[in-house]
Amino acid sequence: MEYLEDAIVAAKLAGKYLREMYKSGSVTAEFKSAKEIVTNADKGAEKIILDYLKNKYPTHKFISEESKPTENESEYVWYIDPLDGTTNFFYRIPYFNVSIALEHKKHGFVGVVYDPINDELFFAVKGAGAFMNGKKIKPNDNSNLSQAFITSCHGREPHQINTFLELMSKFKYSAKDMRKLGSAALELCSVACGRSGAFIGYGTRPWDVKAGILIARESGCVISGVFDDEMGPDDVLVSSPVIYERIKTIIKQEKQWKRNY
Ligand code: IPD
Ligand code: CA
Ligand code: CA
Repeated sequence: MEYLEDAIVAAKLAGKYLREMYKSGSVTAEFKSAKEIVTNADKGAEKIILDYLKNKYPTHKFISEESKPTENESEYVWYIDPLDGTTNFFYRIPYFNVSIALEHKKHGFVGVVYDPINDELFFAVKGAGAFMNGKKIKPNDNSNLSQAFITSCHGREPHQINTFLELMSKFKYSAKDMRKLGSAALELCSVACGRSGAFIGYGTRPWDVKAGILIARESGCVISGVFDDEMGPDDVLVSSPVIYERIKTIIKQEKQWKRNY
């Protein structure tokens, strides 16, 4: 399918550039807000992707993290995170990705997430399953929550950080572990391919999660809001089906700081 093929080409071109920048030691950063940095590599990768996709689809709308959204309206909207995991990248933690999603009439249509360090390409097209390097993927089938590895990301608002800390206090005891890995799209793909059991995003932005959510949905994961049944604009719970209900029950319980789950 043409859209998928083009998203893959763009993600791989940007991924190759990021891999070279990561190894080159020529990364520079500036603060875009109090705690958020952007590097020359974020901008370089974004230019590669936008140059490629805009040339192919000039009438589509583009929403990419480091640029203003294009002003035109279209049934087709691309959500691009040219470097998801900038903090990891800058501090030399090799866990980051390129994330590209296409929505048609506000529904996830194509999702591509590329990890350039491990050369792992995750992708999905609506209704056609999810794949990693061409092989079909599915979520973990271990129903024992105490053996589940859960990851999470949070926004920078105080209530988002506090909610994350409360969730950590629960799942550090009830699951095998809960961690923040710093690359939301890859964390979603880890649930999709069964490496981890669930991902909790609280304060996510569309380019962080659109591609990963489609990949997770197509792999067979359950997707909802963190507290509500429906996913919100900036919160999402993605889980393997066999531990979803247990996770939801624990999220809804009063805060507990000790092992009594
Ligand atoms: C960040 C990552 C991280 C999440 C942050 C995001 P960025 O994206 O996805 O996992 O915790 O909230 O901002 O800024 O590196 O593209
Ligand atoms: Ca991101
Ligand atoms: Ca980014």
